[in-house]
Amino acid sequence: MAVNYRGFIEEQVESIRRQVGDGIAINALSGGVDRSTVTVLAHRALGLRLRTIFVDNALMREGEPRRVVSMFARMGIKVELIDARRQFLKALKDLTDPEEKRQAITDTFYRDVFAKAVRRTKAKFLFHGTILTDIEETVAGIKRQHNILAQIGIDPQKAYGYQVIEPLATLRKDGVRKVAAILGLPADITYRIPFPGPALAARIVGEVTEERLATVRAATEIVEAELKTTGAFQYLAVLLNDYATGIRGGKREFGQIIVVRCIESTDARKATVTELPWKTLHRLARRITSIPGVNRCVYDLTPKPPATVEYI
Ligand code: XMP
Repeated sequence: MAVNYRGFIEEQVESIRRQVGDGIAINALSGGVDRSTVTVLAHRALGLRLRTIFVDNALMREGEPRRVVSMFARMGIKVELIDARRQFLKALKDLTDPEEKRQAITDTFYRDVFAKAVRRTKAKFLFHGTILTDIEETVAGIKRQHNILAQIGIDPQKAYGYQVIEPLATLRKDGVRKVAAILGLPADITYRIPFPGPALAARIVGEVTEERLATVRAATEIVEAELKTTGAFQYLAVLLNDYATGIRGGKREFGQIIVVRCIESTDARKATVTELPWKTLHRLARRITSIPGVNRCVYDLTPKPPATVEYI
């Protein structure tokens, strides 16, 4: 059955106004299409009674926090940028286990940073960008718990009166993109390739440090620029926790290794590898090995399964 997305937007705006009344609501923005769409939808319903924050967790792509904040400013939506870089880097220090790293990021975000913003703004309503696929994957045990209240350490049983609103819970990604386009979000956000919640930390095998983040951030910028016209489902750069011998300026050096991954998929549950032209691969290798400390670049030929898309 064809969905009337304009009707959907009107219904959601009405429903948000009904639920929030004259209260204050808060949401955390990222550069992703789901949270961006929720922000515009909730802002349309509530105006200044929606407080939107963007948390700089030190794990973002080059220039991302400022780019997102100014993009929303151009749409007339004020976003508060919270610099929590030190907190996240501290929480990630010495961690190498993938699950421990993910947990540290989740805890720092919800328990420390977001919970503080909720208290400060006195918001009683929290918007969440959950989509139908997230709910299905949570129920099926594929994804981790999406219950935002539990994540910020608030026990709903204690009747704090907080309410989570998930306006996109009946839509899949393609529906969200249609709503985003109607709401006037820039194509850059509406048709953006997937990017994981743990951001660049998902692309570092081993410890996440400022220096290693700078390396993977530089590689990410190169990969995204070189592959943006491929139309591939997703492309990324990963920093391995291993070293290889190389030669630079006539001297042997023990350098770092970057993996480039580029895949075709419809929903990321299964993926095949994009057959990139040799010319593109050579250019990627040349540019990536010009990053200080990196002397090898490899292209990952593994489909999903058996590999996953990300490395942690
Ligand atoms: P995997 O690595 O499981 O990834 O094959 C499948 C898709 O999900 C994205 N991904 C994540 N997205 N939080 C997210 O929001 C995460 O922790 C996460 N891990 C993986 C990944 O980029 C791919 O599109």
